[in-house]
Amino acid sequence: MNAEYKLLIEQARALIESEPDPIANAANLASLIYHNVSDLNWAGFYFYRKDELVLGPFMGQVACTRIPIGKGVCGTAFETKQTLVVADVHEFEGHIACDSTSESEVVVPFSFNGQTNIQDGVAGVLDIDSPVKNRFGAAEQELFELLAHLYVQESEGSV
Ligand code: SME
Repeated sequence: MNAEYKLLIEQARALIESEPDPIANAANLASLIYHNVSDLNWAGFYFYRKDELVLGPFMGQVACTRIPIGKGVCGTAFETKQTLVVADVHEFEGHIACDSTSESEVVVPFSFNGQTNIQDGVAGVLDIDSPVKNRFGAAEQELFELLAHLYVQESEGSV
């Protein structure tokens, strides 16, 4: 991982380590990512509520408020519990075009109680979009996975 991304992780840690509230931490992380990673048009969170994903704190244009589990990049990453790195969102079947400028995307699922017992309000996804095709590689996947992990580690309880 490059020095810039390592510094970003340290900045994230400093920003959220003394704050246990998951909404406050999600809001600050969305802003930190959006303003410090180049070529992004959207960065934010969706949280699991009553069998769907509901929009949380973000930076960028207004977005879809509800995403069914298994739909779009977010719903698929959440259902499969795997990070998805999509080089060209137009090639992803079922992609939900909230912001028409999005060309590539990374979605990292997370859970506050481990990956096996998903309940309302204890899980969600970190979603990062770029207006540039193929913007995200292994370094970005590692960066966003580490940030999502840090988020869960530093924030207490449900969202
Ligand atoms: N593109 C996403 C929807 C969320 S917005 O990009 C913010 C998807 O297909 O899951």
